[in-house]
Amino acid sequence: MRRNNIVLLLIIIAFLGGCKSKNNVVPLLIYNDADPYMEEFRDNILERTPDEYSIEAYDSQNSQIIQNEFIENLLKEEPPVMIINPVDRLGAYTIVLKAKEVNVPVIFINREPLEEDLYLWDQVYYVGAPAERSAELQSEIIMELFGDSNALGVNDLNGDNIIQVILLKGEQGHQDAETRTEVVMNELETNGYEVEILVIEIANWKTSEGYEAMMELLPIYGEQLELVISNNDAMAIGAIQALMELEYFQDLDNDGFIDHETEPWIPVVGIDGITEALELITSGYLYGTVINDSESMAEAIIELTTAIINGDDVNTISYILIDNKYIWVDYKKYVLDEN
Ligand code: BGC
Repeated sequence: MRRNNIVLLLIIIAFLGGCKSKNNVVPLLIYNDADPYMEEFRDNILERTPDEYSIEAYDSQNSQIIQNEFIENLLKEEPPVMIINPVDRLGAYTIVLKAKEVNVPVIFINREPLEEDLYLWDQVYYVGAPAERSAELQSEIIMELFGDSNALGVNDLNGDNIIQVILLKGEQGHQDAETRTEVVMNELETNGYEVEILVIEIANWKTSEGYEAMMELLPIYGEQLELVISNNDAMAIGAIQALMELEYFQDLDNDGFIDHETEPWIPVVGIDGITEALELITSGYLYGTVINDSESMAEAIIELTTAIINGDDVNTISYILIDNKYIWVDYKKYVLDEN
């Protein structure tokens, strides 16, 4: 009898334990783990997970089909909330409808769904950074570098008072790629800078594509080139690799640092502030970047997740939740002189 009781107790404990872990695991679906920015973003979220619940990350491998399969299976386990970085932001429509059916709140991150999809249900949120602002700050870095728009400084290599640019664009249709490209150009022009776009090349946020694009473009446009504007750091890093290989950067004294006064260089500006980019700024290869603050976004995501799990009012967290939907985290400029 006594033994039976113990067995029963063990079964109950195992059952409760099972339920607890099941309901306490928050899935985090990243669009592609091979994206260095998202890798850092994911780690920033995981590092901040409080003891009360756990977060399990999934790599959607840049496939909305794979991500949808994950979501379908995970929803069956009734997680308390899901954090989703959609592969295709238009895929959010279906995701919201499925989650709503089983009453699982969704926090979208980084790839902004259409407004109408976010408003399909009141338990859907978006945490991101305002793309326009990143381009404004990127244009400020460029303006500060080139100086007076009527009399550009030494970085106007051919002295024609026009900035000759190669622009590396992120993935077509991504809100950040479209807005950053348009706004950085508009900002420079409205501030009186004359810019000649030698070419805009889509390099899909990737270092490898940034490198390949530049290896093709430099033999054609290299002599005119005065500035590389990149929609993100990963592509900027690819551009720098090509510029190094074709000797547009030359570390003449081999001190591991490009001296902008005395050594050949071409300004490259990125966005994100990933670790490798910050190192390249320190060594003078990347001129500047705009921090796409995934640490603060991770904090906001954790606070929102915790509030949802605890059934607290989501408006009481320390980040402003606009219209019960949006949390916007601001960008920051980062260049060597300021740090
Ligand atoms: C980042 C890119 C990243 C993309 C992924 C953007 O906000 O700047 O580096 O590849 O998000 O969705």
